[in-house]
Amino acid sequence: MSAESPLIDAVDSLGVVEDAIARSGETLELAARHLDPSLVDVLRILGFDKEYTSAQGSYLYDAAGRAYLDFHTGEGFASLGHNHPDVREVLRATLAANLVDGVQLHYSALAGMLAEGLSQRLPPGLDAVFFASTGAEAVDSAMKFARAATRRPRLISCDDSFHGVTLGPLSLVGDDFFKEGFGPLLAGCERVPFGDLERLEAELRAKDVAAFIVEPIQGRMVTLPPEGYLQAAQALCRRYGTLLVIDEVQTGLGRTGSWFALDHWGLEPDLVLVGKALSGGYMPVAAMVTSREIYTRAVGTLERCYVHQSTFGRNRLSMAAGLATLRIIERDRLVEHAGYISTVLRDGLAELQQRFEMIKEVRGSGLMIGIELCAPKSRIARLNWRLIHMASEGLFPQLIVIPLHRDHGVITMAAGKNDVIKLLPPLTLSESEARSFLVALDAVLADCHGGGGKNWAVVRDIATATLGRRGAHTSR
Ligand SMILES: Cc1ncc(COP(=O)(O)O)c(C=O)c1O
Repeated sequence: MSAESPLIDAVDSLGVVEDAIARSGETLELAARHLDPSLVDVLRILGFDKEYTSAQGSYLYDAAGRAYLDFHTGEGFASLGHNHPDVREVLRATLAANLVDGVQLHYSALAGMLAEGLSQRLPPGLDAVFFASTGAEAVDSAMKFARAATRRPRLISCDDSFHGVTLGPLSLVGDDFFKEGFGPLLAGCERVPFGDLERLEAELRAKDVAAFIVEPIQGRMVTLPPEGYLQAAQALCRRYGTLLVIDEVQTGLGRTGSWFALDHWGLEPDLVLVGKALSGGYMPVAAMVTSREIYTRAVGTLERCYVHQSTFGRNRLSMAAGLATLRIIERDRLVEHAGYISTVLRDGLAELQQRFEMIKEVRGSGLMIGIELCAPKSRIARLNWRLIHMASEGLFPQLIVIPLHRDHGVITMAAGKNDVIKLLPPLTLSESEARSFLVALDAVLADCHGGGGKNWAVVRDIATATLGRRGAHTSR
């Protein structure tokens, strides 16, 4: 497979793309100067400082033409694969039609059609949609709508959850690492352990909780809910008049082997949040879907019809990308396909787990898979493990992530401050691509077996440098 020339049939009269291609060698220098130099440093340390010049389907390509199999897809942003040709055609056609856009006192048919399309794929009664540009904005909208519709102040979320990093959603996020320095956060936001119904009921009993906001499968470490948890949480919400908000920003649109993860448990929430994959891999778009009744209770009077708005929320390209995405998932039976490819990957991973003690657990649903690692039993491995964890809680998975990328051209990600590698390949992944990932992982695990060798040395060096920097910082 080779990368397609990006300028194959396009007119670039202002020379924007031409300049970007000409300056691609300056990419990281520009980012370090004007964007975030710390991220550039991290990319360099991990060897992810490649000059990727194009992307197609399951692959990114670097300047030398080397292909990288993308098992991360921007956390599900490119669920249809990169630069899907049919989404691009729809975007081109949308531009060619010179439709009205950006006029707030106006609705396009595209927006109504996308709202209709989402509604048709969700449980009955979820037929009122607010479009936003990011997942965080959709979460924020749900927080506001829940408070306004119930006239209650409190919002409950779960430990270890992730809902975005703008101030509202950050107040829900279940990991203090993201919050440090940004407080005070929103009053009335409290957390309960994911899976703990007693603690949830204790919070809801006072009947002052507007909403319980929960990811059906937690994205950070790919944590599945305990059996019966979500259904029971829904029943508790009903009993105490709390709205149930299911955050499907990451799990939605085929990712877990059903249209929405909530389908696995037959949930009927009050609000559902969608984002990431809705982009078709092109446009910023997210949605809050609720019932007409809740929408009306929150902002549904003539005087209040304009109190919750977003300039880019239902722009034509985002709406067109969303509609194209729904149609492609349907036409190409990607939900079923994701289920089948998931079986190929899970069977292969189970077989690797039998052979490599470093794989503690493989878990997930559909093409949202977490591989939890643990230290091999040898003494040298345990010593290295301890050093690496002293340096950083999220560093150990780099033992696998770095060589997968460097030696085998496979992009995966460490899931955060834990020992989990997260796989979110495109839903369009072919069986041979899935098998080539398994071959690469097998080779990397074999290299790391025992606790010595080059891969351990690379991560140990990062750990030593991190501890050194920390020592220098604290002694200052
Ligand atoms: C479950 C969930 N909710 C919300 C968000 C925030 O989405 P965005 O990054 O588009 O703001 C994310 C992002 O990873 C997410 O995984």
